[in-house]
This record gives sequence, structure tokens and C-alpha cells, in this order.
Amino acid sequence: MSDTNNQEQTKAWGGVFTENTDKRVEQFTESISFDNRLYEVDILGSIAHARMLCDVGILSSDEFNAIERGLLEIKSEIESGRFEFRVELEDIHMHVERALIAKIGDVGRKLHTARSRNDQVVTDLRLWIRNEIDAVDKSLFELQRAFVGRCDSDFDVILPAYTHTRRAQPVLASHVWLAYCEKFERDRERLQDCRKRVNVLGLGAAALAGTSIPIDRNKTAKYLEFDSVAANSLDVSSDRDFVLEAAFCLAEIAIHTSTLAEEWILWSTTEFNFLKIPQAFCTGSSIMPQKVNPDVLELIRGKTARVIGNLQMLIVLTKGLPLAYNRDLQEDKRPIFDSFDVIKSILSIAAPLVEGAELNREVIKSQLDSGYLDATTLMEFLILRGVPQRTAHEIVGKLVRIAMDESVSLSELSLQKFRSVYSEFDEDVYKILGANSAINAMKSYGSTAPIQVKSQIKRWKEKLQMVENVK
Ligand code: ARG
Repeated sequence: MSDTNNQEQTKAWGGVFTENTDKRVEQFTESISFDNRLYEVDILGSIAHARMLCDVGILSSDEFNAIERGLLEIKSEIESGRFEFRVELEDIHMHVERALIAKIGDVGRKLHTARSRNDQVVTDLRLWIRNEIDAVDKSLFELQRAFVGRCDSDFDVILPAYTHTRRAQPVLASHVWLAYCEKFERDRERLQDCRKRVNVLGLGAAALAGTSIPIDRNKTAKYLEFDSVAANSLDVSSDRDFVLEAAFCLAEIAIHTSTLAEEWILWSTTEFNFLKIPQAFCTGSSIMPQKVNPDVLELIRGKTARVIGNLQMLIVLTKGLPLAYNRDLQEDKRPIFDSFDVIKSILSIAAPLVEGAELNREVIKSQLDSGYLDATTLMEFLILRGVPQRTAHEIVGKLVRIAMDESVSLSELSLQKFRSVYSEFDEDVYKILGANSAINAMKSYGSTAPIQVKSQIKRWKEKLQMVENVK
């Protein structure tokens, strides 16, 4: 025989049921094991909702005060670890409401007026993601500062830059650091843009159709510092665009940190030997005593897979769902929580690593003459003297071939050799050869010309508040 009373006691939705829920179903459907971390925003949302209900006369001031006091007590119980979570109560929303009723009695049963878990969970998630976006923005800012913080001390270092992992042209190390700043700046802009669509009030959509109770959604929005109020109740309970968008922003950040990791793993190999990762950021091998491995960088690269996987999961999850709420949507939480957790951990380890890594200046310098890094500048030298680009390309190609055959650099070729390919060459050619000259020959905005890079460093310092007196 089923015990209707018993069911009613544990389940807020138990009224219509004549049988108890199977224990296996409770285990299968629960979300409290992972959505408990929404407790703070859930309580924040409930207080704002109750305050609004009081404003419109649905709750008396005394009722609101009791609800607010009860909710704040629950919050501190959760924070101090005194709160008991139980699978039978499904999710964080049910736990908080049930605890409130236990605390303040029948008044607590009024809190869920003009609200459903469908708009409640969306509100919680929006508040939670909004906080996390702000935290990630701060970490990106710190990482940018770590890069800009190196620019002056590394300004004298020229690095070979690569395409296809083949030596291409010389660049200033600071130019490389600022390339990462640009990427992370776009990430920050993307997050800010995403934040606009996150920061919308869903509460008041109720189950899916809105409510016949005369609520004031603008007030709730104001209390929760939302920028606007969602205009369609059916859309509110099905919309997870903001979750997908946030997940994409995070995937993009992970892709950028993965690029950094990949590049630095390569640079710190014995073969490259451009970069020394502090030992505090390396780990060893349990079998090969000599190893000092770049595990932190490898995990930055590896964890990217998780963040991309989470995005993929959310896209697949929301594909083909009809309007309004479907329980599938409960599965949105773990991937988005995980993406934020992973990104925050990547960023918090990346900043000190960027600060602590050391360039092996001598090794880098000793290799700058190999790889014909100045070939493109030599081609442009000819173009500036009126030689058509295609012809200049061919001339330099031939010169590189000669130099390769003789195992010398371009600057080591005699003027006679230069003239053997193109008779108009004169002594001036030597002024643009070599990595240093090639860099100084650069003219365009955004190039690696020292003067350009200097002005970019200045711009970044101002942007990231790294100068005391900005004139
Ligand atoms: N735990 C649920 C979730 O995360 C809350 C919403 C439940 N709504 C419902 N109609 N069953 O999606």
C-alpha cells in the first residue's frame, strides 16, 4: 500500500501521486550532488523574488522578513557544513524551500508563488554564470599583465618566428607576448558581450506561460541587477543559448592557452632550448631520473579537450528540444560548471608560469643567423627599388639557394654573388641583412618594428593600468 502522506512530506509535487517514487528513480533524477553549488544564487534569487512579492502586496512585510531571515540562516548553515543534503529532495531549489518551511512554517510555503523551478533554475544559472564571467575576466586581465610585465625586460630579445614550424622571420620577443595579449583581449570582449545575454531576468516566466499573479518583473530585475527582462515566457524556460555561448567563450580561451602551451613545450625542448620553465612548474619521471617534464603546459593543452568537449555536449544536449522546459536541461550544469572550473585553474597557473619562464638569450641569439630569417626583408628591399614582387621573390630564392649550398648566411655572401643573380645590387643590401636589421626595416602598423612594438607596449600598459602617471 502506498503512503500518500509520506510522499507528500518529501516531494513538493507529491499531491497527485498515490505511489512513492522508486529509490532508483530518485538516484537517477537527482541533481543535488552537483547543483548544490548554486545554493548562494538560489537564495539570492529567492530573496529578490520574495521582496518583489512583498512590493506588490502578495506577501506582507512580516512574511517577507521571515522568509529573508530564514533563507539567510539556511545560507549560513550550508556554508558552515551543517546543512543536510538528501537525494530524495532532488535539487537545490527543493532543499532550500523545504528547509525554509521547516524553519518558518506555513509562510515558507508562499515563497514559490508566481515561480516554477523552470524559471528559477534559469535565474540561478544566469546569476552563477555572471559571477563566473567576472572572475574569468579578472584572471585574463592578470595573465595579460604577466605578459606585458615581461615586455620591457625582454625587449632586446629577437626570436625566430615560425610558420609550418619552419623558421620564417625574426620578431621581437615582446611582439610575441603582445600577440597573446590580443588573443586574451578578444576573449575578454567576447565574455563581456556574452554577459549581456546572460544578464537577463527569466523569473516570472513561471512554468512556461507566465502567471496570473500581478508580479513586477522589473523590480525583481532591479534587485538582482539584471539589465533587462526576458519578454517571452516560453523562450525563457527553454533558452540555454547563454550557457552555450559562455561555453564557447571558454573553449576559445582554452584554445588560446593551448597554443601558448604548445609553443612553450616546443621552445623548452632540449632541441629548441629557447625557454626555461621554472622547476617549480615542472614534474619528474618515476623511471627516468634525468627528466624534467613540462607537465603543467601539457595539462593546459590537455584540459582544453575537456572544455571543447563540454561545449560539444551542450550543443548536442539542446539540439532538437521543443520549447519550454524539458528535464534534459538538467544535464546542462555539469559541463558548464566544469568548463568554468577548468578555465579558472588554467588561468591561475598560466599567469605565474608566464612570469617565471626565462628566455635562454644566448642560445636564441646564436641561432638567429640560421634559417634565412632576413630573406623576406631582402625581397622587400628589391621591391622598394622597383623590382616586381614575383621577380624579387625569384631573385632572393636563387640567392638563398646559393647561400644554402655554401652553408653561409645571406649577409655572408659577397656583393659579387649578389650581382651574379641581380646586377643592380649595391653595398646598401648589407644594411638590411641579419635578424636585427630585418626587424628595424619593418615599417607597418602592427609590425614587429621596435618603434611599433614600443607604442603597443605603452598602449597595453595604459589599458592594463600598469603605469602610474599616464600622460
Ligand atoms: N533540477 C532541475 C534542473 O536542473 C530543476 C528544474 C526542474 N524542473 C522540473 N520541472 N522538473 O533542470
